[in-house]
Amino acid sequence: MKDFVFNMPTKVVFAVGAVNGIGQECRALGGTKAFLVTGRTATRNSPYLGQIEKSLQEAGVAVQIYAEIEADPSVGTIDRGAAVLKSAGADIVIAFGGGSPIDAAKAMAMLQKNEGSILDYMRGRRQTANAGLPLICIPTTAGSGSEVTAAAVVTDRGSKEKIGISHGSMTPKVAIVDPVLHVSMPPAVTASTGIDALTHAIEAYTAVQANPLSDAACLQAIRLIGKYLRRAVANGKDMEARGNMALASLLAGIGFNHAGLGAVHGIAHPIGAQFGVAHGVGNGIMLPYVMEYCAMADYTKFGDIAAALGENISGMSGRDAAQQAVSAVRALKQDIGIPETLAAAGVPPTAVDAIVRDAITYRRLPNSPRQLTGEDLTVIVERALGIKKV
Ligand SMILES: [Fe+2]
Repeated sequence: MKDFVFNMPTKVVFAVGAVNGIGQECRALGGTKAFLVTGRTATRNSPYLGQIEKSLQEAGVAVQIYAEIEADPSVGTIDRGAAVLKSAGADIVIAFGGGSPIDAAKAMAMLQKNEGSILDYMRGRRQTANAGLPLICIPTTAGSGSEVTAAAVVTDRGSKEKIGISHGSMTPKVAIVDPVLHVSMPPAVTASTGIDALTHAIEAYTAVQANPLSDAACLQAIRLIGKYLRRAVANGKDMEARGNMALASLLAGIGFNHAGLGAVHGIAHPIGAQFGVAHGVGNGIMLPYVMEYCAMADYTKFGDIAAALGENISGMSGRDAAQQAVSAVRALKQDIGIPETLAAAGVPPTAVDAIVRDAITYRRLPNSPRQLTGEDLTVIVERALGIKKV
């Protein structure tokens, strides 16, 4: 049995209608003036923003809304937002939205108590020394799991890189998970964020750093996604599916916050930064190709994934059961409309070297169950582009 430490410092409030408790949660953390970070488009016009304001007002908490976060937030967005936050004089930060506003809010809150630009922390020139302002997250998608993780992904548009930064002090204090907020998510966003959650669960379950508690969280996340993602895509008003997908995303977040991610994210980051492919779509495309290549490192765990996705693996060899997990992921992707190849997402065949050059530097790459070299990554990316047959 593996030795491990498991620390889950985020308070989770999971309920239909939980969003109405935001005022009390702010007060409980000593907040008197909140700075609410959200997206530029969908969440900015969300009717729930009014409910949040009302709850804060009733609790006597002032609020300033900052609706300036784009998808895949950039260094400039975060540095500008951190400056506005500083001048606002807020004592608590609320993130309302998908992974992008949550990650941006984490970075902005951290910069309130640490000097410099977010770029300094991405490039390792400075270390996150002090805890930032307290942060409460209200996710409006079921995918990133960012409401319970220490990590944020920031895009350097100059160098076309997406870089993750992670520090325990960036972990949110409270996650308010309210499935009602997910009902208006369109099918395509439900699909791409849901497959991102599945990628988190599968990468963390098979990771070198996995432990028994992260395994339990990830396996349950995989079961729930196998059962409910199609339903959530088919009918956004299916509250049983929405609730279980919100739970799955949360469980996968808890899992990968402890066990880490691997090559799928390592490859999806340059695909996103260089070609604008959405995070979940990039992960969804790469997931079966990476699983197929890495499965021989641990047939048992890949067989577990097949069973968790509802496949009957009884009587199968370990190799066949692992292959069944790959087939199950391919079928799920196809049903929910995630492209099969990178080519179908607009990535040109000439991109292989640039993708591999970036992916090989991913700090979590050694966490993949199969230890991957640049040559291995080239084979995987060529297969995903449809250049080389599996
Ligand atoms: Fe992700």
